[in-house]
Amino acid sequence: MRYNVVKNAEKIIENSSYLVKNPESYKGKWSSLFNNNNKICLELGMGRGSFIIQMAKNNPNINYIGLELDKSQTATAINNIKGQNLKNLKIICADARNIINYFGKEIDTIYLTFSEPWPKKQDEKKRFTHESYLKLYDRIFKKDKHIILKTDNKILFASSLESLSNYWYSFNKVSLDLHKDERKIENVMTDFEKQYFKEHRPVYYVDAFFKN
Ligand SMILES: C[S@@+](CC[C@H](N)C(=O)[O-])C[C@H]1O[C@@H](n2cnc3c(N)ncnc32)[C@H](O)[C@@H]1O
Repeated sequence: MRYNVVKNAEKIIENSSYLVKNPESYKGKWSSLFNNNNKICLELGMGRGSFIIQMAKNNPNINYIGLELDKSQTATAINNIKGQNLKNLKIICADARNIINYFGKEIDTIYLTFSEPWPKKQDEKKRFTHESYLKLYDRIFKKDKHIILKTDNKILFASSLESLSNYWYSFNKVSLDLHKDERKIENVMTDFEKQYFKEHRPVYYVDAFFKN
């Protein structure tokens, strides 16, 4: 899928009430920003935001935060929310490597949706399920750990299963072809997923947890 460059991306982002400009100042205080004590779920690398926007619409009693590094993608997501009044959704334009600066122990679920696969061995530390990231997640999960990952990439999927199980995660569900799986789950498709679905390409899925 092509990434589009959005003119005035910075302006669009700056002017959005969904954007949290200084996420550091809400570390440990996101509940007060949402003005409730509902669960808080975080998507890393939300892209154009279809997934997190739809999740926020479907589940008004859960708070969602979409984090994305790229300004054009973030601006597109913000454009996609326009005209809607989603009180349970916030957007951060930042690098996932810095999440411990933005969150205390307050996240319930982390969604990793079609993350960059970094298939080369020398890049494995950049995968969002590398042990170094799992250690960061430990510092932001409220109590139990819960990660939901979807990908079309076999290397990322296999290494994620290995990394999660080596880190003592258990699996609620693992699927090698989510859309053909008979054990249906309530699935909201991401933008990348919609494309792969059209092309009949399998989507790998894992719902992993660790109870503290
Ligand atoms: C392949 S796209 C998937 C987008 C979306 N999740 C989907 O499924 O449609 C991966 C996204 O992750 C973002 N990304 C990559 N590295 C990131 C990082 N370190 N922090 C935040 N976002 C990142 C990219 O900019 C890109 O938008």
